Amino acid sequence: AVLDADHTDPLSLPFEATLAKLASLLPERLRRPQVGIVCGSGLNTLAAAIRDKIEVPYAELPGFGSSTVPGHKSSFAFGLIGPGEGVPVVAMLGRLHPYEGHKLATVVYPIRVMARLGIKNLIITNAAGALNPNIAVGTIVVIQDHLALPNLTGMNPLLGPPIGPNYPRFLPLSSAYSASLRRLAFLAAHKLKLGLDALAEGVYAWVSGPTYETPAEGRMLRNAGADVVGMSTVPEVLAGKEEGLEVVVLSLVTNKVVIPDKYRSIKEEVEAELAGKPVVRQEEEVVSHEEVLLIGKQKAEVMKGLVEKIVELIASE
Ligand code: 6GU
Repeated sequence: AVLDADHTDPLSLPFEATLAKLASLLPERLRRPQVGIVCGSGLNTLAAAIRDKIEVPYAELPGFGSSTVPGHKSSFAFGLIGPGEGVPVVAMLGRLHPYEGHKLATVVYPIRVMARLGIKNLIITNAAGALNPNIAVGTIVVIQDHLALPNLTGMNPLLGPPIGPNYPRFLPLSSAYSASLRRLAFLAAHKLKLGLDALAEGVYAWVSGPTYETPAEGRMLRNAGADVVGMSTVPEVLAGKEEGLEVVVLSLVTNKVVIPDKYRSIKEEVEAELAGKPVVRQEEEVVSHEEVLLIGKQKAEVMKGLVEKIVELIASE
């Protein structure tokens, strides 16, 4: 089934069954990952950083939905990153999005499972469109904060009864994006000699999708202070924070959001036409998922190196 069970009742989340299944599939040394990684659109190749890898398809795990988006797989990859003994990690190859029809509780269930496996740090990647004209395609943006219209209008992933007795009812989000992990991201870029322009900092706007923004919506998000926009990540950040994790988000800019200063005016064109003057028409640009995947592919190596180095720095702190 594409659509998942209704997990809005937190007591229906099958943690025990999921954890038992994972324990039965994993060797001892991979069972307690320290770091969780979420691979965004076109970024599954991050898994190449993981050695002694064991992949577990979501389909084998109770409570899991499957990703239906091209460029997303649907499995966990367990293994080791970094030199020496290595750091045990778990990566989500493919994430779930609300626009696929998944319940918000299902979207964040893998995050809650990773927290129960013992991760303390969560590195989330995604593909995003740039709203800020100063951020070039190919830049990786270290997210400082978010703007989530769905959260403000009744589509918050944490809606519902608390999922346990020790969970905060009103989760503060003033420091949702870990300053210490963001520091490690910039240090990692420095150690990898990526150059100062490879990474930027900015605010992520979450929209539900599956439609891309209209020009007016893009302009509104930009005017409201967002630098990039995408259809994922914020649910995972919220669940990660609720589970007590340190969270860092790396957004790969795959395209620019087209926000024209001036709309093409059909009125002016008709006026020119009627006056017998040449009609000047503005070019209209269109964003595509193919473009998103292509940049993901081109920049996957950089993202992989960065994630690898951040994991090493986390383990050596
Ligand atoms: Cl332009 N918009 C949204 N909402 N998500 C994106 C994107 C744009 N580019 C990549 N992901």
